[in-house]
Amino acid sequence: MRAVAVTEFGGDPKVVDVPKPTPGRGELLVEVAAAAVNPFDWKVADGMLAGSMEHTFPLVLGVDFAGTVVDSGPGATRFAIGDRVFGSALRAPVGAVGAYAEFLTVPDTGPIASAADLDPAQAATLPTAAGTALGLLEAGGIRAGQTVLLVGAAGGVGTFVTQLAAARDIRVLAVTRGVGQTKMGALGAAETYDASGGIVVAKVRANYPDGVDALIDLVSDAADFADYASLIHAGGTAVSTLFAADPEALSTRGVKAINHNQKSTPALYDQLADELRAHRLTVPIEARLPLSDTPTAIARSRLGGARGKTVIIP
Ligand SMILES: NC(=O)c1ccc[n+]([C@@H]2O[C@H](COP(=O)([O-])OP(=O)(O)OC[C@H]3O[C@@H](n4cnc5c(N)ncnc54)[C@H](OP(=O)(O)O)[C@@H]3O)[C@@H](O)[C@H]2O)c1
Repeated sequence: MRAVAVTEFGGDPKVVDVPKPTPGRGELLVEVAAAAVNPFDWKVADGMLAGSMEHTFPLVLGVDFAGTVVDSGPGATRFAIGDRVFGSALRAPVGAVGAYAEFLTVPDTGPIASAADLDPAQAATLPTAAGTALGLLEAGGIRAGQTVLLVGAAGGVGTFVTQLAAARDIRVLAVTRGVGQTKMGALGAAETYDASGGIVVAKVRANYPDGVDALIDLVSDAADFADYASLIHAGGTAVSTLFAADPEALSTRGVKAINHNQKSTPALYDQLADELRAHRLTVPIEARLPLSDTPTAIARSRLGGARGKTVIIP
């Protein structure tokens, strides 16, 4: 079958032929209908998990998928052949299966959920991006009536945070580079700040002299994160997805800082699927591309400039 893989850490992703996986005990074979691109994909290809998980080469890339169960191993009873599912393909050894492939195997007790009644392209975007968005709001304990400064708001995670926050009556101050209030407002942002010329701490402070309740920062390094976090008042929360937060330093001002590491569960995916079915969530799909364009899509993600989600249709 066709898949997209690297042959070494740091190698260029290429379309390759690999054996179709066979479902073992407790596993499902899924024919992939859609896979979503995340920055995590090229980070894994670069060796981000090298110290923490076993890997195998060629390392098939891609984590988030949606597809149809076409076979199952003994003891896999949670889903039947013909069921539509979505979820995360990440497991050890990393690269043995991946979402950028025609088929993959998953443990039926793993992080997958029913995609019945869902567009596979939309379902495929949920695990990492929407899952993290919900996880960030929960980890930060951000409540209705509060204001959150969201840095990196126009990309995959940010567009979901904006919608999920607005639906919970949380006021979103979106920080983008070049995406205006018309687009971010349509997703639920109350205000949008343009950071094309550099970080926008002074502009936000001018509008919120008493500080902001919470920061969710998806893009900043430690120095920029500390500057944005200076806007958070005592008792507030500042969350980074890039391990850029210094909890000790911020605790001296009474700000709780969190370096968030998203964990996925079937229950989380069920919740997100329900949000989609109930039309409480829309998926801003930037591009739908064939499997052959995956190497280009991964290279583009590395360069930045994401506007919503890119989906691969094998
Ligand atoms: N820790 C975890 O559990 C976890 C989970 C999910 C994601 N992440 C990480 O979180 C990050 C964001 O993920 P994502 O999927 O949302 O990425 P993405 O889809 O690539 O979106 C990032 C967005 O941020 C914008 N941006 C970049 N620099 C900016 C700046 N200085 N100010 C304002 N906007 C800026 C980008 O557009 P421009 O380049 O045009 O500005 C893009 O719209 C990634 O590094 C990802 O690996 C971590």
